[in-house]
Amino acid sequence: MASIVPAPLTAQDRVVVLTGAGISADSGIATFRGAGGLWRQYDVFDLASVAGFERDPGLVWQFIGGRRSRAEAATPNAGHLTLARLGRELGPERFTLLTQNVDGLHQRAGSEPVYELHGSLFRTRCSAPDCPAARQPFSDNRDYPLAPPTCAHCGAPLRPDVVWFGEALAADVLAVAEQVIQRCTWFFAVGTSGTVFPAAAFVELALAVGAHTVLVNREPAENVSRFEQFVEGRAAEVLPLLFPDGRRAGQDAG
Ligand code: OAD
Repeated sequence: MASIVPAPLTAQDRVVVLTGAGISADSGIATFRGAGGLWRQYDVFDLASVAGFERDPGLVWQFIGGRRSRAEAATPNAGHLTLARLGRELGPERFTLLTQNVDGLHQRAGSEPVYELHGSLFRTRCSAPDCPAARQPFSDNRDYPLAPPTCAHCGAPLRPDVVWFGEALAADVLAVAEQVIQRCTWFFAVGTSGTVFPAAAFVELALAVGAHTVLVNREPAENVSRFEQFVEGRAAEVLPLLFPDGRRAGQDAG
Protein backbone atom coordinates (compact mmCIF):
# COMPACT_ATOMS: atom_id res chain seq x y z
CA MET A 1 0.00 0.00 0.00
CA ALA A 2 1.42 3.40 -0.99
CA SER A 3 1.84 5.96 1.79
CA ILE A 4 -1.44 7.68 2.54
CA VAL A 5 -1.79 11.38 3.13
CA PRO A 6 -4.65 12.49 5.41
CA ALA A 7 -7.55 14.10 3.54
CA PRO A 8 -7.05 17.88 3.90
CA LEU A 9 -10.52 18.66 5.23
CA THR A 10 -11.27 22.23 6.28
CA ALA A 11 -13.97 23.71 8.50
CA GLN A 12 -16.00 24.59 5.42
CA ASP A 13 -16.03 21.09 4.01
CA ARG A 14 -19.08 18.86 3.81
CA VAL A 15 -18.24 15.19 3.43
CA VAL A 16 -20.28 12.35 1.95
CA VAL A 17 -19.05 8.76 2.21
CA LEU A 18 -20.62 5.96 0.20
CA THR A 19 -19.69 2.45 1.31
CA GLY A 20 -20.09 -0.96 -0.28
CA ALA A 21 -19.40 -4.58 0.55
CA GLY A 22 -15.62 -4.06 0.52
CA ILE A 23 -15.64 -2.23 3.85
CA SER A 24 -17.26 -5.23 5.53
CA ALA A 25 -14.91 -7.68 3.81
CA ASP A 26 -12.35 -6.81 6.50
CA SER A 27 -14.90 -8.07 9.05
CA GLY A 28 -15.19 -11.38 7.22
CA ILE A 29 -18.46 -10.67 5.36
CA ALA A 30 -18.45 -11.92 1.76
CA THR A 31 -18.63 -9.33 -1.02
CA PHE A 32 -20.90 -9.87 -4.05
CA ARG A 33 -18.46 -9.87 -6.93
CA GLY A 34 -14.91 -11.12 -7.33
CA ALA A 35 -13.36 -14.26 -5.87
CA GLY A 36 -15.56 -15.77 -3.14
CA GLY A 37 -18.33 -13.23 -3.89
CA LEU A 38 -21.92 -14.22 -3.16
CA TRP A 39 -23.01 -13.73 -6.77
CA ARG A 40 -20.25 -16.09 -7.89
CA GLN A 41 -21.65 -18.86 -5.69
CA TYR A 42 -25.39 -18.28 -5.98
CA ASP A 43 -27.87 -17.24 -8.63
CA VAL A 44 -28.78 -13.66 -7.90
CA PHE A 45 -32.21 -14.03 -9.55
CA ASP A 46 -33.11 -17.02 -7.37
CA LEU A 47 -32.08 -15.29 -4.15
CA ALA A 48 -32.50 -11.57 -4.71
CA SER A 49 -35.46 -10.87 -6.98
CA VAL A 50 -39.23 -10.80 -6.58
CA ALA A 51 -39.57 -13.62 -9.14
CA GLY A 52 -37.12 -15.79 -7.20
CA PHE A 53 -38.95 -15.10 -3.95
CA GLU A 54 -42.32 -15.97 -5.49
CA ARG A 55 -40.85 -19.21 -6.84
CA ASP A 56 -39.23 -20.30 -3.59
CA PRO A 57 -39.62 -18.03 -0.55
CA GLY A 58 -38.16 -20.70 1.74
CA LEU A 59 -34.89 -20.73 -0.20
CA VAL A 60 -34.65 -16.94 -0.05
CA TRP A 61 -35.26 -17.01 3.72
CA GLN A 62 -32.56 -19.65 4.21
CA PHE A 63 -30.14 -17.38 2.35
CA ILE A 64 -31.20 -14.36 4.45
CA GLY A 65 -31.00 -16.37 7.70
CA GLY A 66 -27.41 -17.34 6.90
CA ARG A 67 -26.48 -13.75 6.05
CA ARG A 68 -28.15 -12.50 9.25
CA SER A 69 -26.21 -14.87 11.44
CA ARG A 70 -22.89 -14.16 9.70
CA ALA A 71 -23.46 -10.40 10.03
CA GLU A 72 -24.39 -10.75 13.71
CA ALA A 73 -21.29 -12.83 14.37
CA ALA A 74 -19.04 -10.25 12.66
CA THR A 75 -17.40 -7.31 14.41
CA PRO A 76 -17.10 -3.79 12.98
CA ASN A 77 -13.53 -3.16 11.81
CA ALA A 78 -11.24 -0.12 11.86
CA GLY A 79 -12.88 1.16 8.66
CA HIS A 80 -16.36 1.23 10.18
CA LEU A 81 -15.00 2.67 13.44
CA THR A 82 -13.08 5.43 11.65
CA LEU A 83 -16.21 6.57 9.79
CA ALA A 84 -18.21 6.55 13.03
CA ARG A 85 -15.57 8.74 14.68
CA LEU A 86 -15.40 11.08 11.69
CA GLY A 87 -19.18 11.43 11.79
CA ARG A 88 -19.00 12.45 15.46
CA GLU A 89 -16.15 14.89 14.77
CA LEU A 90 -17.85 16.62 11.85
CA GLY A 91 -21.47 16.32 12.98
CA PRO A 92 -24.54 15.64 10.83
CA GLU A 93 -24.41 19.00 9.03
CA ARG A 94 -20.99 18.21 7.61
CA PHE A 95 -20.92 14.44 7.34
CA THR A 96 -23.28 11.92 5.76
CA LEU A 97 -22.81 8.18 5.55
CA LEU A 98 -24.57 6.39 2.70
CA THR A 99 -24.22 2.62 2.48
CA GLN A 100 -25.19 -0.08 0.06
CA ASN A 101 -24.58 -2.59 2.84
CA VAL A 102 -27.40 -4.32 4.68
CA ASP A 103 -25.30 -5.86 7.46
CA GLY A 104 -25.77 -3.26 10.24
CA LEU A 105 -22.02 -3.00 10.93
CA HIS A 106 -21.89 0.79 10.52
CA GLN A 107 -24.61 1.19 13.15
CA ARG A 108 -22.83 -1.24 15.47
CA ALA A 109 -19.64 0.81 15.02
CA GLY A 110 -21.57 3.85 16.27
CA SER A 111 -22.47 5.71 13.07
CA GLU A 112 -25.71 7.63 13.35
CA PRO A 113 -27.55 8.23 11.10
CA VAL A 114 -26.73 5.63 8.44
CA TYR A 115 -28.65 5.95 5.18
CA GLU A 116 -29.18 2.39 3.96
CA LEU A 117 -29.70 2.53 0.19
CA HIS A 118 -30.39 -1.20 -0.16
CA GLY A 119 -32.37 -1.72 3.06
CA SER A 120 -31.39 -3.91 5.99
CA LEU A 121 -31.02 -7.63 6.64
CA PHE A 122 -32.46 -6.92 10.08
CA ARG A 123 -35.88 -5.67 9.00
CA THR A 124 -38.81 -7.70 7.69
CA ARG A 125 -42.07 -6.60 6.03
CA CYS A 126 -45.08 -7.98 4.19
CA SER A 127 -44.47 -8.88 0.54
CA ALA A 128 -47.99 -7.98 -0.63
CA PRO A 129 -47.73 -4.49 -2.17
CA ASP A 130 -51.31 -3.53 -1.20
CA CYS A 131 -51.05 -4.67 2.44
CA PRO A 132 -50.52 -1.80 4.96
CA ALA A 133 -47.89 -3.97 6.68
CA ALA A 134 -45.79 -3.77 3.49
CA ARG A 135 -44.95 -0.20 4.47
CA GLN A 136 -44.20 -1.03 8.10
CA PRO A 137 -40.98 -2.99 8.34
CA PHE A 138 -40.16 -4.35 11.79
CA SER A 139 -36.84 -5.29 13.41
CA ASP A 140 -36.10 -8.97 12.96
CA ASN A 141 -33.01 -11.12 13.37
CA ARG A 142 -34.66 -14.54 13.29
CA ASP A 143 -33.79 -17.51 11.17
CA TYR A 144 -36.69 -19.25 9.40
CA PRO A 145 -35.20 -22.62 8.42
CA LEU A 146 -38.45 -24.50 7.80
CA ALA A 147 -41.16 -22.30 6.34
CA PRO A 148 -41.26 -18.64 5.38
CA PRO A 149 -42.97 -16.40 7.93
CA THR A 150 -46.39 -14.99 7.02
CA CYS A 151 -48.01 -11.60 7.54
CA ALA A 152 -50.33 -11.42 10.59
CA HIS A 153 -52.44 -8.89 8.70
CA CYS A 154 -53.04 -10.56 5.31
CA GLY A 155 -51.33 -13.95 5.40
CA ALA A 156 -48.95 -13.21 2.50
CA PRO A 157 -45.32 -14.31 2.93
CA LEU A 158 -43.15 -11.86 4.81
CA ARG A 159 -39.99 -10.75 3.04
CA PRO A 160 -36.70 -9.16 4.11
CA ASP A 161 -36.69 -5.36 3.83
CA VAL A 162 -33.82 -5.36 1.34
CA VAL A 163 -33.82 -4.02 -2.21
CA TRP A 164 -33.85 -6.78 -4.82
CA PHE A 165 -32.83 -6.68 -8.45
CA GLY A 166 -35.29 -4.70 -10.51
CA GLU A 167 -36.68 -2.88 -7.46
CA ALA A 168 -36.46 0.84 -6.82
CA LEU A 169 -34.56 2.21 -3.85
CA ALA A 170 -36.59 3.79 -1.05
CA ALA A 171 -37.46 7.25 -2.36
CA ASP A 172 -36.75 9.04 0.94
CA VAL A 173 -33.25 7.57 1.29
CA LEU A 174 -32.43 8.32 -2.35
CA ALA A 175 -33.66 11.88 -1.92
CA VAL A 176 -31.34 12.39 1.07
CA ALA A 177 -28.42 10.95 -0.91
CA GLU A 178 -28.97 13.27 -3.85
CA GLN A 179 -29.49 16.28 -1.61
CA VAL A 180 -26.31 15.80 0.44
CA ILE A 181 -24.17 15.02 -2.60
CA GLN A 182 -25.40 18.18 -4.30
CA ARG A 183 -23.97 20.24 -1.45
CA CYS A 184 -20.86 18.21 -0.63
CA THR A 185 -17.27 19.31 -1.14
CA TRP A 186 -15.75 15.82 -0.69
CA PHE A 187 -17.20 12.55 -1.93
CA PHE A 188 -15.54 9.28 -0.88
CA ALA A 189 -16.58 5.87 -2.24
CA VAL A 190 -15.23 2.97 -0.19
CA GLY A 191 -15.21 -0.74 -1.03
CA THR A 192 -17.63 -0.71 -3.93
CA SER A 193 -17.26 -2.11 -7.44
CA GLY A 194 -19.13 0.83 -9.03
CA THR A 195 -21.39 -1.49 -10.97
CA VAL A 196 -24.78 -1.11 -9.28
CA PHE A 197 -26.90 1.96 -9.96
CA PRO A 198 -27.92 4.47 -8.85
CA ALA A 199 -25.05 4.41 -6.29
CA ALA A 200 -22.45 3.91 -9.04
CA ALA A 201 -23.50 7.27 -10.54
CA PHE A 202 -23.31 9.28 -7.29
CA VAL A 203 -19.75 10.26 -8.24
CA GLU A 204 -21.19 12.01 -11.29
CA LEU A 205 -23.43 14.16 -9.06
CA ALA A 206 -20.42 14.99 -6.90
CA LEU A 207 -18.31 15.92 -9.92
CA ALA A 208 -21.11 18.12 -11.22
CA VAL A 209 -20.93 20.28 -8.08
CA GLY A 210 -17.13 20.43 -8.16
CA ALA A 211 -16.52 18.19 -5.14
CA HIS A 212 -13.25 16.32 -4.62
CA THR A 213 -13.86 12.67 -5.43
CA VAL A 214 -11.86 9.84 -3.86
CA LEU A 215 -12.18 6.09 -4.33
CA VAL A 216 -10.83 3.76 -1.63
CA ASN A 217 -10.87 0.20 -2.93
CA ARG A 218 -8.78 -2.94 -3.07
CA GLU A 219 -8.75 -2.76 -6.87
CA PRO A 220 -9.83 -0.25 -9.53
CA ALA A 221 -13.63 -0.13 -9.57
CA GLU A 222 -15.64 -0.07 -12.79
CA ASN A 223 -16.02 3.73 -12.50
CA VAL A 224 -12.49 4.46 -11.22
CA SER A 225 -11.81 6.92 -14.03
CA ARG A 226 -14.50 9.23 -12.65
CA PHE A 227 -12.58 9.79 -9.40
CA GLU A 228 -9.98 12.48 -8.93
CA GLN A 229 -8.00 10.19 -6.61
CA PHE A 230 -7.82 6.41 -6.26
CA VAL A 231 -6.39 5.03 -3.03
CA GLU A 232 -5.72 1.34 -3.52
CA GLY A 233 -5.90 -0.77 -0.38
CA ARG A 234 -8.09 -2.33 2.25
CA ALA A 235 -10.67 -0.06 3.81
CA ALA A 236 -9.72 -1.09 7.36
CA GLU A 237 -6.12 -0.01 6.71
CA VAL A 238 -6.68 3.04 4.51
CA LEU A 239 -9.49 4.86 6.35
CA PRO A 240 -7.66 5.33 9.69
CA LEU A 241 -4.76 6.90 7.72
CA LEU A 242 -7.00 9.05 5.54
CA PHE A 243 -8.90 10.31 8.60
CA PRO A 244 -6.41 10.02 11.47
CA ASP A 245 -7.62 9.91 15.03
CA GLY A 246 -7.57 13.13 17.03
CA ARG A 247 -7.28 15.29 13.94
CA ARG A 248 -10.55 17.06 14.77
CA ALA A 249 -11.11 17.51 11.06
CA GLY A 250 -11.91 21.03 10.02
CA GLN A 251 -11.09 22.65 13.36
CA ASP A 252 -7.41 23.02 12.67
CA ALA A 253 -7.67 24.49 9.21
CA GLY A 254 -9.79 26.54 6.91
P1 OAD B 1 -19.17 -5.72 -4.79
O1 OAD B 1 -19.01 -7.10 -4.27
O2 OAD B 1 -19.73 -5.54 -6.15
O3 OAD B 1 -17.77 -4.96 -4.77
C1 OAD B 1 -16.97 -4.92 -3.63
C2 OAD B 1 -15.73 -4.12 -3.96
O4 OAD B 1 -14.96 -4.03 -2.76
C3 OAD B 1 -14.83 -4.76 -5.03
O5 OAD B 1 -14.46 -3.77 -5.99
C4 OAD B 1 -13.60 -5.24 -4.23
O6 OAD B 1 -12.39 -5.13 -4.95
C5 OAD B 1 -13.60 -4.27 -3.07
N1 OAD B 1 -12.99 -4.81 -1.85
C6 OAD B 1 -12.95 -6.09 -1.41
N2 OAD B 1 -12.37 -6.16 -0.20
C7 OAD B 1 -12.03 -4.90 0.13
C8 OAD B 1 -11.41 -4.32 1.26
N3 OAD B 1 -11.00 -5.04 2.30
N4 OAD B 1 -11.25 -2.96 1.27
C9 OAD B 1 -11.65 -2.21 0.21
N5 OAD B 1 -12.23 -2.71 -0.87
C10 OAD B 1 -12.43 -4.04 -0.92
O7 OAD B 1 -20.02 -4.92 -3.69
P2 OAD B 1 -20.86 -3.57 -3.85
O8 OAD B 1 -20.20 -2.63 -4.79
O9 OAD B 1 -21.18 -3.11 -2.50
O10 OAD B 1 -27.02 -4.98 -4.00
O11 OAD B 1 -22.17 -4.13 -4.52
C11 OAD B 1 -23.20 -3.26 -4.78
C12 OAD B 1 -24.50 -4.00 -4.67
O12 OAD B 1 -24.48 -5.18 -5.50
C13 OAD B 1 -24.79 -4.58 -3.29
O13 OAD B 1 -25.33 -3.64 -2.39
C14 OAD B 1 -25.80 -5.63 -3.60
C15 OAD B 1 -25.11 -6.27 -4.79
O14 OAD B 1 -25.95 -6.94 -5.66
C16 OAD B 1 -28.20 -5.49 -3.65
O15 OAD B 1 -28.30 -6.53 -3.02
C17 OAD B 1 -29.35 -4.68 -4.11
